Amino acid sequence: MTETNPVPVSVIGLGAMGSVLATALIENGHPTTVWNRSPEKADPLVEQGAARATTVTEAVQASPLVIVCVLDYKAMYELLDPLCDALAGRVLVNLTTGTPEQAREAAAWATHRTIDYLDGAIMATPPAIGRPDAFLLYSGSQSAFERHEATLKLFGDASTYFGADPGLAALYDIGLLTSMYMSFTGFLYGAALVGTADVKATAFAPYVESFLDGVVRGGMGQLAQQIDEGHYPDDASPLAMQAAGMTTFIKAFQDEGIDVEILQHIKGLTDRTVADGHTKAGLASLIEQIRTRRLVP
Ligand SMILES: NC(=O)c1ccc[n+]([C@@H]2O[C@H](COP(=O)([O-])OP(=O)(O)OC[C@H]3O[C@@H](n4cnc5c(N)ncnc54)[C@H](OP(=O)(O)O)[C@@H]3O)[C@@H](O)[C@H]2O)c1
Repeated sequence: MTETNPVPVSVIGLGAMGSVLATALIENGHPTTVWNRSPEKADPLVEQGAARATTVTEAVQASPLVIVCVLDYKAMYELLDPLCDALAGRVLVNLTTGTPEQAREAAAWATHRTIDYLDGAIMATPPAIGRPDAFLLYSGSQSAFERHEATLKLFGDASTYFGADPGLAALYDIGLLTSMYMSFTGFLYGAALVGTADVKATAFAPYVESFLDGVVRGGMGQLAQQIDEGHYPDDASPLAMQAAGMTTFIKAFQDEGIDVEILQHIKGLTDRTVADGHTKAGLASLIEQIRTRRLVP
């Protein structure tokens, strides 16, 4: 069953993120109850029309849909674990960043207390909340997502539900952020290298944008397909050739006295993959080494 009128929502945790989530709800006509450990952070929201809860229990009891967005899971349990039955029968949407394992443990904790648990990950900064391009990732209770989908999409219309495994949202979150960190860090390394010839990062950036757009965006689909099939056919840019190229790149960085640790790590992955016989395969085959190394304690 989907919600009809703007459903009452309680927001617990009014940091940079929780505050804008509450604002989005207030602006869209949801009766909104707010609570924060430092109570003064509720003041601007109360001015906007939110109801102030003086205790966490009061906040939870005010709404069938409870959103918690605090620093970490430790804080989340500190607040919610002592509540006894106050959360029972309600939907709890946890937008606190955590690991997949933490999300699964929280779902089990919630099931034990008959709480309908939906885990979420926010792929946006606070100013982007509510913008059409903002999106959140959800997993866990499908019925909770479907019932409150319209409300949850106020935070980001492109939000997606990934499935019943409560860890999926956190897995996608960390997978996406890892891709982001590695892409930006790659740019930083490139900028450091060209910077040795006084090339400005702003002059270098457009070339990186267009290169990534063509080569990375263009090649991602093929890489993904090879990974899924576990089959790495001969490639026009075979790994043996790429390994030799990496030796040259590392030398270029060393010549300029720039950190080479990440490049050496990638070269190590490449060398081990070649040693495993994937001489003519492309980059996708590195995933075998990446996966195997997780077994090393
Ligand atoms: N900001 C972002 O760009 C962003 C983006 C995606 C996801 N997130 C995630 O959203 C969550 C909140 O982030 P934020 O930006 O709002 O952080 P924040 O501005 O630092 O706020 C942290 C919130 O957690 C509360 N808190 C911390 N420890 C607590 C405890 N022991 N007991 C009760 N409350 C406690 C704080 O209460 P006080 O006000 O009393 O300190 C505050 O409400 C995090 O998990 C973060 O990873 C943030």
